[in-house]
Amino acid sequence: MNLIKVKDYNEASKVAFDIMLPHLKANQVLGLATGSTPLGLYQLMVEDFKENNRDYSEIISFNLDEYVGLDPKHRESYYSFMNRNLFQYVNFKESHLPSGIGDLDNNCLEYEKLLNQHTIDIQILGIGSDGHIGFNEPGTSFDSLTHVIELTQQTRGDNSRFFKDLNEEVPTHAITMGIASIMKAKEILLIATGENKAEALKMMIEGEINEACPASILQKHDNVTIVYDEKAGKLLGGNMKEVNTNEFLEETKEGLCLVDFSATWCGPCKMMAPILEELSNEISDVKFLKVDVDENNELAAKYGVMSIPCVYLLKDGEVKGSFVGLQPKETVKNFIESHR
Ligand code: GLP
Repeated sequence: MNLIKVKDYNEASKVAFDIMLPHLKANQVLGLATGSTPLGLYQLMVEDFKENNRDYSEIISFNLDEYVGLDPKHRESYYSFMNRNLFQYVNFKESHLPSGIGDLDNNCLEYEKLLNQHTIDIQILGIGSDGHIGFNEPGTSFDSLTHVIELTQQTRGDNSRFFKDLNEEVPTHAITMGIASIMKAKEILLIATGENKAEALKMMIEGEINEACPASILQKHDNVTIVYDEKAGKLLGGNMKEVNTNEFLEETKEGLCLVDFSATWCGPCKMMAPILEELSNEISDVKFLKVDVDENNELAAKYGVMSIPCVYLLKDGEVKGSFVGLQPKETVKNFIESHR
């Protein structure tokens, strides 16, 4: 999995757009998603279409899913969503969505048949707070093709925000591309932002590959990129890197670096480490480095490290500030913000 951590939703949309760009050309087949997650990406696609006269007339799109029982004209059908946010602006050759009305068994078969006549070049995905992709809820077979599914209470609760103004209930069922259908895409781009995705993201990236977390199957795909923001990534294992003297000199040449001078035998250092690990997940524009003072004593001496843990903030190799001893997370955070 190629993991790209960004600051926030806007940055996630920009990075997603850059990944999408090489696919916005003739003969590409795009797999599209709904929900709040891809909205920023679609806005950038619409802006780019207008500004650069990009031609979509030889591009085909397939959507992941649709609610069962909603008329396509209903404001919250995914058909309406896609028209409102993308299709009305951009001249796709063909755009397909599964239909959630009529003979559903037949709709599933027909959609899968149509999918099989193409290969999706890039599939955009969001992730449900319960780890679903498309509408493949926990427990869905990894071998599933397009099918009808009962939505979990969690998903219906999450999506109720779209139906509140209409005083309507979220539909109980949906028709969705299956997990096996999604995995056939040549490339997958999943975007996850916001705190309510943190658990799902952790299960997907660090958990076992298990049908209890449908998105975990993506660990087996050989071309998947996950773009996530600081809030969604807050439960992931830290991004601290242990470096030796040479690596330190290389890493600190450019940009902002927080360096933790510490030692394996030092108790307060052990307590400081998880705090810095946590922060390394929350702050994406600072590199978090760890230097073992025993193994790199000349470097430690050069920086005047007398007592550990000793934390330095460097910008383009220059010291911006330092502190000594165990500090609470908020203090370290403020230290970084006031010295950056
Ligand atoms: C929705 C969609 C999914 C989407 C997910 C997250 O219900 N069926 O395709 O990825 O749940 O939604 P959101 O992006 O609004 O958080």
